[in-house]
Amino acid sequence: MAAKGRIPQYFIDDLLSRVDIVDVINRRVSLKKTGKNYSARCPFHEEKTPSFSVNPDKQFYYCFGCGAGGNAVGFIMDYERQDFPSAVDNLAHIAGLEVPREELSPQQQVKQERRKTIYDLMEQVSAYYQKQLRSDPQSQRAIDYLKRRGLSGRIARDFNIGFAPPGWDNLLKTFGDTEEHKQQLIDAGMLIEKEDGKLYDRFRDRIMFPIRDNRGRVIAFGGRVLGDDKPKYLNSPETDIFHKGKELYGLYQARQNNRHLEQLLVVEGYMDVVALAQHGIMTGIATLGTASNTEHLRTAFRYASELIFCFDGDAAGRKAAERALENALPVMEDGRRIRFLFLPEGDDPDSVVNRDGAAGFQKLLANAAPLERYFFESLHEQTDPDTLEGKARLSKLALPRLQLLPDGVFRQLMLDSLANRTGLSRQSIDQLLDEVPAPTPPEVTAPAAPEQRRSTQKLTAKLPGSQRDPLLFALAMLLFNPRGAATGPANINNSEDSAAATLLNNTIALLRKRPDSSTAMLLGHWYGQPEYEVMTEALKTIELLGTELNDEKAEAAFFDTLAHIETQKSTQVLRNHVDKLRSGNEVDKPASANYAELSEADKQQLLAIQQLLKQKHRL
Ligand code: UTP
Ligand code: MN
Repeated sequence: MAAKGRIPQYFIDDLLSRVDIVDVINRRVSLKKTGKNYSARCPFHEEKTPSFSVNPDKQFYYCFGCGAGGNAVGFIMDYERQDFPSAVDNLAHIAGLEVPREELSPQQQVKQERRKTIYDLMEQVSAYYQKQLRSDPQSQRAIDYLKRRGLSGRIARDFNIGFAPPGWDNLLKTFGDTEEHKQQLIDAGMLIEKEDGKLYDRFRDRIMFPIRDNRGRVIAFGGRVLGDDKPKYLNSPETDIFHKGKELYGLYQARQNNRHLEQLLVVEGYMDVVALAQHGIMTGIATLGTASNTEHLRTAFRYASELIFCFDGDAAGRKAAERALENALPVMEDGRRIRFLFLPEGDDPDSVVNRDGAAGFQKLLANAAPLERYFFESLHEQTDPDTLEGKARLSKLALPRLQLLPDGVFRQLMLDSLANRTGLSRQSIDQLLDEVPAPTPPEVTAPAAPEQRRSTQKLTAKLPGSQRDPLLFALAMLLFNPRGAATGPANINNSEDSAAATLLNNTIALLRKRPDSSTAMLLGHWYGQPEYEVMTEALKTIELLGTELNDEKAEAAFFDTLAHIETQKSTQVLRNHVDKLRSGNEVDKPASANYAELSEADKQQLLAIQQLLKQKHRL
C-alpha cells in the first residue's frame, strides 16, 4: 500500500480548535447539561445511569464506567468505527474545511511505514511459527509435546501457538532479506546482534506463544523449551511496542470470546491460560513473568468487574498473594470485586484442570476467598485476636492498608469489620486512621515550598487512592493546563519503568516542541499508542476534581508534584545508603569501616542526606 501523504499536524490542531466536541457528540448521543459538563449514558458500554461526561472547556469526553476517553477525533473513530484519516475527513466536513496532505520525503516515508510494518512483521513471524508447527521436519516433537500437555489442534490454533525450529538463523533467513528488514527484526527483539555484528535468532527450538496487545496486534513472544533446559521460558525483551509490565497474556482472546466479561482469572503462566481455555474456561489472563502491578489490575478491571487471583498453595504463592493484595487495595472502587484462590500445594491451574476437569476447577473457584476474608484471615495468622494485645496489633497492621482503599462503601464496610474484630468503636477506628500517615502525600515534604505542597495535598486528598500516584497526578495536571506547564523549566528524570513515567516525560518533550498544544491535541497525539490508557486515567483525575481545578491551580500543582517526585527519589537514594550502612553493622563491621568503603559519589550523597534532614528539622 503506497503511503498517502500525512495529514499535517497544524491542520489537526486547527480542526480541533474549530469543532466543538459537545456538538460532535450531541449529534450522535443526546447530551444533558449537568453543571459545567454534559453527560449521557455511555455509548461504549451498557449502563443504566449516565457515567459518560463531556468537558466543553477542555474539549474531551470521559466515561467513569468503562474508562473510555479522548478528543473529538477519537470519539468519531470509536463511535463510527472509522480510521484516523476518515474521522478527520468527517470532522473537516462539518467544519467546512478541506483536508490537506503533506508531501513526504523518501526518508520520512520509510520511517512512517516502518512503525506500521513492525506490527505486520510480527504478525507474519507469528504465522511463520505456526506454519513450522505444522510442517517443519522437526515439528513432530513439538506436536507431541503439546499433545502430552493436553492441547488440541484447535486450541493451539486459537492461541496461534507455533514452533521455532532448532537452528541459529531460520528467522534471519526467512525475513531478514534486506538491511532494513534485519533492523526491524532487531528492533522487534526477534534477532540478537553479537558484538562482532553477527545476527542470530533469539528463539530456537521452542514452542512459541504470541503475545497480543489490547487491539489484537502481535507485539512479542514467549517461547517454551520442549524439555527441561533453562530458561524454561524466554520472553521478548522490552521494545517500542512491548512493555512487559503492562501486558496481560490472554486478555485479548478472553475479550474476543466474550464482549461482556464478568470475571477474569489472574493466573501465573502461558500454559495456565491455554489449558483453562482447552477446558472451556476462556477467562484466564497472565502477567508475563512479573508480579501483577496496579496497572495490570486497572487494565483488567476495565473489562470485568471481578478478578480472581489463582495462587499456588506454597510459601511462594502466599507471598505473591500478599503483593497482589497491596496492589489491589488502591483500585478497589465500589462495584469491583477481588477474590483469592489458593490451589493445593504443587498444583497450578493447568495441572488442576487437566486432572480434575473444568468442573473440578470451578469447584475450587466457588470457594475462592473474597478480598475481605483473605485480608483479615491473613492478618489473624499474625495476631491473636482473642487477646487485647492481639487486637491492638490487628488494628495497627490493618489500618495502613485500609488507608489505601479508595473512598466508598467498600472502604466503610472494611473499617466496620475491623471495628467488629477489635471491639473498637468506629469512631476510634476513624481517629486512628487519621493518625496513619497517608501513602501519598508522603512522609517527606518538599522543603522548598511547604505552602504549595499543602495546596497540592488539598487537591489529592479529594481523589481516591487509585488516582493519587504522583506520576499520574502530575500527568493529569499537565494535561489540564498544557500551556502553563510548557512555560516552566520542567525536567523529570525518572528512572521508574512505568507507563505513567514514560508518558509524562514524552509529553513534556512534546510540549517543548509544540508549546501551544491543548488538552485535546495532546490526547490526539497519544491516541492508539500503548500509553493511551494512562491518558484516560489522567482524564479521570481531572473529571474527579471537577470545579476544584482551574488553570492556575493545575500549573502550580504540576510543578509542585514534579519537585515532590524529585524529593522522594533523592530520599530513596539516601535511604538505600542508610540501609547499606546498617547492613554493615549487622555483620559486626563498624559503620565507619563501611563508610570508608563507600565510593566518592556515595559519600557525597550521605552528605546530602544530612543536609536534607537538617532542612526538614528547620521546617
Ligand atoms: P511457571 O514456571 O509457573 O511456568 O512460570 P508454568 O506456566 O507452570 O509452565 P509450564 O507449566 O511448566 O509450562 C509461570 C510464568 O512465569 C514466566 C512465564 O511467563 C511463565 O508462564 N517464566 C517462567 C518466565 O518468564 N521464564 C521462566 O524461565 C519461567
Ligand atoms: Mn505449569
